[in-house]
Amino acid sequence: MEMIFRQLNPHACRTYLLGSEGSKEVIIIDPVLEHLNDYLKLLETEKLQLAYVIDTHTHADHISGAAALKDHTGCDYLMYKGAPACCVTSHVKEGFIYLVKGIPIKVMYTPGHTKDSLSLIFQDRILTGDVLFLEDGGAGRDDLPGGDPGEHWDSLQRILGLPDHLIVYPAHEYRNRQASSLAVQKLKNPHLKPATREDYIRYVEDLKFGPADWMKEVLKANYACARNPKAVWIPVDVPACEVKGTMTCSVNDQKVSSISPDEVKGRLDAGQEQILLDVRELDELEGELGHLPEIRHIPIDSLSSRISDLEVDIDKDIITICRSGGRAHTAAQILMQAGFSKVYVLAGGMTAWNKAGYLVTNKV
Ligand SMILES: [Fe+2]
Repeated sequence: MEMIFRQLNPHACRTYLLGSEGSKEVIIIDPVLEHLNDYLKLLETEKLQLAYVIDTHTHADHISGAAALKDHTGCDYLMYKGAPACCVTSHVKEGFIYLVKGIPIKVMYTPGHTKDSLSLIFQDRILTGDVLFLEDGGAGRDDLPGGDPGEHWDSLQRILGLPDHLIVYPAHEYRNRQASSLAVQKLKNPHLKPATREDYIRYVEDLKFGPADWMKEVLKANYACARNPKAVWIPVDVPACEVKGTMTCSVNDQKVSSISPDEVKGRLDAGQEQILLDVRELDELEGELGHLPEIRHIPIDSLSSRISDLEVDIDKDIITICRSGGRAHTAAQILMQAGFSKVYVLAGGMTAWNKAGYLVTNKV
């Protein structure tokens, strides 16, 4: 049976499409409401029949696109037993399910990040939701309602008991790491290192979590099956689900420096040599915020693989720029990890630059 398997989103929230080439029947896992039209267009263009949509857990960082996909296509909406979203049509339990012809999918109950977290195993891969991220990305945070580090450790032990060759596909990937096997996670993922439940709980308690108040509002929107992408305020560019402090390299201890729009303006006026590295997508450069003059453009998703483009400039100051600072911060970390030392994030990104009234190019 020829399988269709794709990741659909351009950014850190991962949405997977799984189906059988022969029947054109597909399921979508962890859709993001903001990308609804892209999913619908893909289904239409490729004449795919959406049979089921699944959320691996109740998300706290984005509004799920599952309810809207159900409305538009009439598909079933699956979540684990006890998931609170009011529009779920089927609650599944641990065991095999047959959603796509010829591809048995094993549901594994993996709570910890949330009470309703499931992982999906099929063929040579496992979709882990936020229970396990890739390598030094660690795992999803346990400090939101329903989070429980002890249960998280229990779930990770069950995942550790699975075959090493399974390829791990998480629900988030903030640094464009390529999917890798469970064997690699065992070697590189710090969340799999603590030897006992108690050690794991202590380890999680020592981690740094970003602010979560806004995430509680997103949870409520997902309980209510919101169909409006603007139903809740969601900060742009924030790697919200990632646990800070899980990276094995020392870069996390190295403070990322920021630089204000006023200082950058002063440097430009003085003709100071520096690299202005804009890490947004191309369409954003042409959008309402525009961009600074004479930027270098490398989208954040490509930065790791294009780091050699910048090596000639390793001794210069590099100022990383995005919409509001989140992606630029990640870019700075990637650069510092690669040995660049004079890296600064434009504080507040292009939003702050525009607010300050300084010159932009390509503004529409
Ligand atoms: Fe999550």
